[in-house]
Amino acid sequence: MSKSYEMTRREFAKTSAIGLAGLAMARGSWAKPQIQTKKRYAIVGVGGRSRMYQNAIHKKYAEQAELVGICDTNEGRLRLSQEIAQKAGQPVPQKYPAADFDRMILETKADTVIVTTVDGFHHHYIIRALELGCDVITEKPMTIDAKKCQQIIDAQRKTGGRMRVAFNYRYSPPRTQIKDLLMAGTIGDILSVDFHWMLNTHHGADYFRRWHSQKKFSGGLMVHKATHHFDLVNWWLSAVPVSVMASGKRDFYTPAMAKRLGLQSHHERCHTCPEKERCGFELSLMKNPSLKELYLDNEQYDGYYRDRCVFRPDIDIEDTMNVLVTYDNQATMSYSVNAFNAWEGYYIVFNGTRGRLEHKSEEKVYLFGDGSTPGAVKPEGTWTRIFPLREPAYEVEVWTGSGGHGGGDNVMLDDIFLANTPADKYLRASDQRGGAYSILTGIAANICFKTGKQVEVQKLVKNIGYPLYPSMPTHADPLPMPQKQV
Ligand SMILES: NC(=O)c1ccc[n+]([C@@H]2O[C@H](COP(=O)([O-])OP(=O)(O)OC[C@H]3O[C@@H](n4cnc5c(N)ncnc54)[C@H](O)[C@@H]3O)[C@@H](O)[C@H]2O)c1
Repeated sequence: MSKSYEMTRREFAKTSAIGLAGLAMARGSWAKPQIQTKKRYAIVGVGGRSRMYQNAIHKKYAEQAELVGICDTNEGRLRLSQEIAQKAGQPVPQKYPAADFDRMILETKADTVIVTTVDGFHHHYIIRALELGCDVITEKPMTIDAKKCQQIIDAQRKTGGRMRVAFNYRYSPPRTQIKDLLMAGTIGDILSVDFHWMLNTHHGADYFRRWHSQKKFSGGLMVHKATHHFDLVNWWLSAVPVSVMASGKRDFYTPAMAKRLGLQSHHERCHTCPEKERCGFELSLMKNPSLKELYLDNEQYDGYYRDRCVFRPDIDIEDTMNVLVTYDNQATMSYSVNAFNAWEGYYIVFNGTRGRLEHKSEEKVYLFGDGSTPGAVKPEGTWTRIFPLREPAYEVEVWTGSGGHGGGDNVMLDDIFLANTPADKYLRASDQRGGAYSILTGIAANICFKTGKQVEVQKLVKNIGYPLYPSMPTHADPLPMPQKQV
């Protein structure tokens, strides 16, 4: 690595400011200094998810934000991302291969790095961006295992840099409303939770096609997907996990299942599959223009197949998982996620000292990156009911929103890109502490799958600090005596 690459961005800004001052003098003393008002963003990983941030920067938040750099291992997707900027009539960001990430930060003088690359590589870019003096916004999961999580926690402590883990689910109105009801003490303090997440054979199957299907890249569904769910529970309860017991298996997306479904064999990928006409799990990249443009047309650069067979033997993630968690506020949770269900969404029940809250949310069928709205809530399949102790049950009118992930994406983007947003009583913005605790339940579950033994979460990563959560009813609060039963 050359000496100049070892400079931090702050040092670079200082030295280049001297150079720029000289340039201004050469141009003449009348040259007015440019006042920098827009925040300068760089994105690493310009696949499906990055589009939400890129479009937000180019359109809704164009007055506050500018995309100055993009970085990826795939030259074709980098060019595509530049074309998006061009079509939006915005300055075209400079593109950099992944190996030149440091150079991107130094040359573009990015203020904030948005990390939307493969989960297993997040830590590398988060740590480097912090070391180079940038703020970091990272997609979930913050990272995939305890070792990398510790490295991020240590780097943040050492640099004092600012981090945000983008938990869009917290911002989805129906889920924010649950927090509101719990904070208000509607069902008292929470003693236990039953939480069951269903992934269907459309969206759920999609996790078995590409990098998500290998633990070294995604941490499996316990980390990649359940980070959302475990974060919601931590935040809903304002608590952190203490111990985890879990079991997991892959029983549906297997070569044996391909045979049971009448296929002769699993194959490498749908695009070239001799049995694709009769396979109900075919993903046709040719029939889907956005997937073709993003992935099929760029395979030549890295051999990334978006449509690998969901029944391949080399898949090493689970499709069937059950978890028991205890929390530091003494609440307990039973949780499950299955990736082969008939519908997509979840049931959650909070059992409190003053009653029970039941919430169901069904999501529309979608496939990430196919141009449909990801995680859109089905209003007819979404409800929240309160069962007060010894009083009649009632249904609450569910808060609604529009856009991706139950309306959460849009609310979160406002929070990220707008300056001077009003104080948030739900404290939905999360830093590395919330990011760490959101993955540690799943990381512990992954360990448990191997050892069969309960895992103490606090032993996995040190010095995390306690996440910022709103205060909640506690086990020490006085309670009204329930009415006598006749
Ligand atoms: N919050 C949400 O609801 C949500 C939804 C989807 C995805 N995500 C997250 O967003 C991230 C990206 O997911 P995606 O669906 O866009 O995946 P993707 O495969 O479409 O995009 C990943 C990009 O990273 C690039 N890449 C691969 N290795 C790299 C490396 N070493 N360095 C730099 N770039 C590299 C790939 O070429 C690709 O362009 C993941 O962390 C995922 O978990 C979050």
